[in-house]
Amino acid sequence: MAGLRIGSFIGSLLICAAMSAATWAASDAPIDTATIEKNRKANAENCFNCHSADGIAKPPRADLDLSKLKDSQVEPSVYNPSDHGVMDCRQCHSKGYEDFPHAPAGKDNTSSCTECHAAKVLRLEPQFNASVHAKNTGLKEKFNCFTCHNPHINVVALRLKDPAKIVAQDNHGCLECHNSDLTFAKFAPDAEKKPGVKKKRPDIDAIHDWLPNTKAHWNAVRCVECHTPEVAAGKMLSHEILNKEKAEKKCLSCHSANSALKVRLYRHLVKDEQQRLGFTNSVILSNSYVIGATRHPLLDGALIGLVALTLVGVLAHGVIRIVAATLRRDRRDNDAQGPTS
Ligand code: HEC
Ligand code: HEC
Ligand code: HEC
Ligand code: HEC
Ligand code: HEC
Ligand code: HEC
Ligand code: HEC
Repeated sequence: MAGLRIGSFIGSLLICAAMSAATWAASDAPIDTATIEKNRKANAENCFNCHSADGIAKPPRADLDLSKLKDSQVEPSVYNPSDHGVMDCRQCHSKGYEDFPHAPAGKDNTSSCTECHAAKVLRLEPQFNASVHAKNTGLKEKFNCFTCHNPHINVVALRLKDPAKIVAQDNHGCLECHNSDLTFAKFAPDAEKKPGVKKKRPDIDAIHDWLPNTKAHWNAVRCVECHTPEVAAGKMLSHEILNKEKAEKKCLSCHSANSALKVRLYRHLVKDEQQRLGFTNSVILSNSYVIGATRHPLLDGALIGLVALTLVGVLAHGVIRIVAATLRRDRRDNDAQGPTS
């Protein structure tokens, strides 16, 4: 028994070592701090002097269209910690932004995601093409990677770690459009049999009114939890957004010991789970209370023990009362008979 346990312990150590070697091989070498410093200095001098709150407050030239500049604000405090914050702006805005006024063709020269992430796009594109946004008529041309991924702001879930922050960022991406009549209309197809009239935006809270305390769910889980097919923990999140027929409606998919949240929202944390305090799904418990998903074998045992003790107590109490009553009756009988000699 003990030998078996030590054997499986060594086995899991070996698996862990193999896994960390694989992740190490897959990750690129870290970017050196000198390069990051150089890029940040260049951004501050060439772009943030206009495109930030400070730049808008104190524009370096008098001939700037300030309302347009306000619409194109990129803040260093948000940009620097983002996924692309280590880069020089001109690595994506490659031509035409060196001088002001910017060259009219600048926009056409903005790098697409594929230029740098060809392998990822190759894997995600078929899923994206199968999603509701690509399949619905007229949407595909308007929808692209940066409709959801703001290249100046987003931080990938793997780096964000904190589930509350991941939920806030990812749901904001969907709700920015699904909660705004104005933005939704820019993308929506025409209503059925009514050419020229935009399809009405379905009210997100009303559609999901079968979900108790809908708002609490929006703060604790992402839209993609129910609207994408489940993938294995190590794989990239699926980009196939599922329609209302295929979306997840079963409460138990999350509210159970084998919660799907482990391979969804918590996939990056489950890797470092150490069964804290012996709870099953301790990573979930330390972030929110998901009824049914977090259990403790010791607490479960203690509860059963407590119930058993109560039963024993009640039984013992009954037995003692019966014995005491019999004894009392015997004594009364003896007293009534009186001394015999
Ligand atoms: C002197 C101020 C100033 C500087 C410096 C500046 N911009 Fe701009 N930029 C503007 C203004 C003002 C607009 C608003 C549109 C316009 O008036 O052309 C703008 C618009 C833009 C746009 C969107 C408009 C478009 O379609 O071309 C991008 C992208 C842009 N700037 C990128 C950059 C980058 C990258 C840098 C740094 C390499 C930079 N800008 C430096 C003032 C500036
Ligand atoms: C990873 C690539 C990438 C980097 C790095 C990048 N941008 Fe952009 N930027 C884009 C893309 C793509 C768009 C176009 C978005 C669209 O068309 O909706 C854009 C749009 C813009 C716009 C137009 C207004 C807006 O917000 O959509 C401005 C201004 C801008 N970028 C400034 C900057 C500045 C300043 C930096 C550096 C601090 C920077 N960008 C770094 C990819 C990048
Ligand atoms: C000019 C090259 C370039 C372009 C264009 C570009 N990226 Fe990136 N991207 C990078 C680099 C470099 C990093 C890694 C930074 C680091 O290692 O810290 C990165 C990191 C990321 C990450 C986080 C790490 C990961 O791979 O999971 C995501 C997500 C991402 N980019 C998405 C996008 C999307 C979406 C677009 C299109 C809007 C885009 N990128 C356009 C260069 C680029
Ligand atoms: C820029 C706007 C925009 C963004 C961002 C967006 N959507 Fe949509 N979505 C639409 C439009 C427009 C439709 C099409 C409505 C139609 O054809 O009936 C749609 C359709 C859908 C549908 C299909 C409803 C059905 O069954 O017919 C689902 C589900 C959906 N979106 C979920 C999401 C999720 C989840 C996200 C975030 C990951 C998201 N959307 C991001 C605009 C957007
Ligand atoms: C708990 C799982 C779950 C979550 C979380 C969830 N959805 Fe849904 N969603 C569903 C199901 C199931 C349906 C189908 C409902 C029905 O047919 O009654 C649906 C329907 C929809 C529809 C179709 C509306 C229509 O009738 O055309 C849209 C759009 C949608 N969801 C968007 C979202 C967005 C945006 C979010 C994030 C704020 C989200 N969903 C979060 C499960 C979920
Ligand atoms: C409908 C909105 C939407 C569109 C369109 C979209 N994404 Fe995503 N993407 C998301 C969400 C939500 C996540 C989950 C957040 C995360 O894992 O960081 C994500 C995650 C990612 C990741 C990290 C995956 C992982 O599991 O580590 C990459 C890389 C990525 N997207 C690239 C792209 C590229 C490239 C495109 C264009 C082909 C694209 N996305 C289009 C919503 C979208
Ligand atoms: C995608 C995963 C998921 C699905 C599916 C899901 N839930 Fe939840 N639910 C959660 C999470 C995560 C919380 C924790 C909220 C918190 O920490 O505040 C929660 C919280 C709750 C709560 C407590 C809300 C409160 O007031 O704090 C109730 C009740 C609940 N869910 C019922 C349901 C029912 C009933 C269904 C099916 C119709 C369902 N849930 C489907 C993930 C899910």
